[in-house]
Amino acid sequence: MENLLHRLSFFLLILLLPPSLLQASSSSSSPSHHKQVYIVYFGEHSGVRTFQEIEASHHSYLLSVKETEEDARTSLVYSYKNSINGFAAFLTPHEADRLSEMEEVVSVIRSDPRKYSMHTTRSWEFAGLRETTTGKNLEKEDLLIKSRYGKDVIVGMLDNGVWPESRSFNDERMGPIPHSWKGVCQFGDSFNSSHCNRKIIGARYYIKGYEAYYGPLNRTLDYLSPRDMDGHGTHTSSTVGGRRVNSVSALGGFASGTASGGAPLARLAIYKVCWAIPGQGKEGGNTCFEEDMLAAIDDAIADGVDVLSISIGTRVPVGYDEDGIAIGALHAIKKNIVVACSAGNSGPAPSTLSNPAPWIITIGASSVDRKFSAPVVLGNGVKIMGQTVTPYKLEKKLYPLVYAAQVTNSDVPNNISGQCLPGSLSPEKAKGKIVLCLRGNGTRVGKGMEVKRAGGIGFILGNSKANGDELAADAHLLPATAVNYGDALKILNYIESAKAPKAHIERAKTVLGAQPAPFMAAFSSRGPNTISPDILKPDITAPGLNILAAWSEASSPTKMAEDHRVVKYNILSGTSMSCPHVAAASALLKAIHPSWSSAAIRSALITSAGLNNNEHNLITDASGNSADPFQFGSGHFRPTKAADPGLVYDASYKDYLLFLCSSGSKSLDSSFKCPKNSPSPVNLNYPSLAIPKLNGSVSAIRTVTNVGGSNSVYFVSVKPPPGISVKVSPPILFFNRAGQKKSFTITVKLDNGITADSIEKDKYAFGWYTWSDGIHNVRSPMAVSVA
Ligand SMILES: *[C@@H]1O[C@H](CO)[C@@H](O)[C@H](O)[C@H]1NC(C)=O
Ligand SMILES: *[C@@H]1O[C@H](CO)[C@@H](O)[C@H](O)[C@H]1NC(C)=O
Ligand SMILES: *[C@@H]1O[C@H](CO)[C@@H](O)[C@H](O)[C@H]1NC(C)=O
Ligand SMILES: *[C@@H]1O[C@H](CO)[C@@H](O)[C@H](O)[C@H]1NC(C)=O
Ligand SMILES: *[C@@H]1O[C@H](CO)[C@@H](O)[C@H](O)[C@H]1NC(C)=O
Repeated sequence: MENLLHRLSFFLLILLLPPSLLQASSSSSSPSHHKQVYIVYFGEHSGVRTFQEIEASHHSYLLSVKETEEDARTSLVYSYKNSINGFAAFLTPHEADRLSEMEEVVSVIRSDPRKYSMHTTRSWEFAGLRETTTGKNLEKEDLLIKSRYGKDVIVGMLDNGVWPESRSFNDERMGPIPHSWKGVCQFGDSFNSSHCNRKIIGARYYIKGYEAYYGPLNRTLDYLSPRDMDGHGTHTSSTVGGRRVNSVSALGGFASGTASGGAPLARLAIYKVCWAIPGQGKEGGNTCFEEDMLAAIDDAIADGVDVLSISIGTRVPVGYDEDGIAIGALHAIKKNIVVACSAGNSGPAPSTLSNPAPWIITIGASSVDRKFSAPVVLGNGVKIMGQTVTPYKLEKKLYPLVYAAQVTNSDVPNNISGQCLPGSLSPEKAKGKIVLCLRGNGTRVGKGMEVKRAGGIGFILGNSKANGDELAADAHLLPATAVNYGDALKILNYIESAKAPKAHIERAKTVLGAQPAPFMAAFSSRGPNTISPDILKPDITAPGLNILAAWSEASSPTKMAEDHRVVKYNILSGTSMSCPHVAAASALLKAIHPSWSSAAIRSALITSAGLNNNEHNLITDASGNSADPFQFGSGHFRPTKAADPGLVYDASYKDYLLFLCSSGSKSLDSSFKCPKNSPSPVNLNYPSLAIPKLNGSVSAIRTVTNVGGSNSVYFVSVKPPPGISVKVSPPILFFNRAGQKKSFTITVKLDNGITADSIEKDKYAFGWYTWSDGIHNVRSPMAVSVA
């Protein structure tokens, strides 16, 4: 009866809705079989309960909103039992509302297939080239020896699986699997226990959320197993823990070299949470559902991982109580697991960060000092620097050179005619020529394919203004090179002024020691932190531009349908690539300092980071302007220095809960009651300082722990932001033993005579404060804006 009434009222509601609304709801993009999944999150498990008791409790919540036992049982998707207390279930909006009103419920999150994405750029470049997969500093033998190459530290990879046959994952001469490991090797398509070894010690997959939305996985698009059909997960996993592999195979005659992960003796635990999107082809990329990620993190915590590497984030910033990665990471932190996450690829616009929580290490992306040089020589003899990893080459002579807009079909609008979008070029006009195309819409490799389709003989990819000097080394399917914005304009000028413009593209070769390096990738997401303005993010930058690592042999280097090449190593860009570098560095630090908290490890990485490029100037952005902490955090990671940071800023799980109490965020743990006077959010013991909307003065308290020598004296030095005065008290800290803690106050105020009006509102100014004992420099960035 109740059921019937319910249906009747639903029917009435539909009738009463204006047609416009009805249309909007019926055209929602979800597939027809789609039922909505929600995550109901409680926080911690209270007391000791068995798995049966936990599931029974979750069931009783479902029963309180569902009609029948059967309904409650069949609606359950996941019951999170290990560390995270919550469940995922099919619910109606009304049921979700009713659950969210219950006091024990922290949040009810609606699953959304568009909410998260993997943080690679749409570039899909390839090469089998000389090493430097990892930042130069990471290669420092002494750190690797001290950390025994990350021996036995377990890194969990939340990604889209692994290609276990890659030589990067061989387990020769690795010792037995650590006793602490409790994970499993899950059977599935082309994957069984024989694919795990002493390197890949565990592999699982999580797909219930994906299948609830898309229906059963189409097994021609992806493997129903931990195996990687895309390449991304293989790339990130080998960047963290790939073995040293000599003479990485070379496509098209590039020099062969060595590939190695940052922590070559660390163990890898694979958690496949991202899957192919139906109907989009390989280029369409993957999607990751947060109910699947939460299940994976819950298992990873119970399995015994030490570090989690997550190159996934929300497309737009969301509050922590609505962000499965933030919630899962908080539980991981409680078990002292380091969580490294990518900052996102939504730069260079400000306020574009994902993964901004203060319990996560948030990582931006920058270049390495390696180039794949392929210059263009113009008919007038001028030589212009370009980059590519294209294996194809031109005969040694000059070819006619045109700008794409001169050789498009007549129906292509002017505003996009230079972009070589699919079908835009005229074969009659482009045949036998080198074609200059500009970046904008469309993929870089796709533009080259359009030139090839139209019979062009060579391809120059010119940056737009937004791309600046950032050159992606792509594996185009014809002779090609990529040039920066300024050079693209030079070539355009030449084409306009020459009577018969001609050019030659030289064959690519690898050049090490490129300058300046690092510079920030234009795509790397920027601060300020819109979720917690009191926390400066990103934390740090690491190599994320043109990174070489292992690849899935079920994929092609460009992932384009027309590309049938199979490669064992590939070059990719994104904060997806920088995140595993820092995860690897964290594994090395864990191996050296097993007792350090995840906050101490993050502090060591942050305060030891470098600000200068290899020309001894401040790191720049992709256009050559000085970069700032909203781009690089505290700077470029220096793992060797991080191993001996001198002092660390520590923080506990409880500190993060107190931070949430005072920062206006929702509590993430219903068992924790906020005290009446929670400390101000600026007092979270973070190794950097952000003060939004300064009016008068603000004081923050920090506590440093001595992790260096027993008798040490640290002096502070400050580089205040322009217009701001900064006082640190006391200015000298004395330590007579390791482990000793000392507190100081840092007071920030507007300079005398400077009023809030004289500084641009909401614009941030940056400074630094550094504790130094003559050996260690413990540097923190600060960002201040005025009210
Ligand atoms: C696992 O798969 C391999 C082939 O990939 C096969 O040779 C082996 O027999 C399988 N092992 C088990 C235990 O099924
Ligand atoms: C699975 O994907 C393949 C390749 O895109 C497609 O041809 C096929 O129709 C799909 N199968 C189903 C059942 O959707
Ligand atoms: C280009 O112009 C056409 C109209 O001429 C317009 O429809 C289209 O949106 C424009 N595209 C861009 C990228 O500005
Ligand atoms: C790309 O396409 C979108 C939508 O058509 C348009 O708004 C945008 O301006 C285009 N960007 C460039 C650089 O052409
Ligand atoms: C700054 O503080 C002063 C004094 O406390 C107050 O009157 C003023 O409204 C504040 N300004 C802003 C923009 O908050």
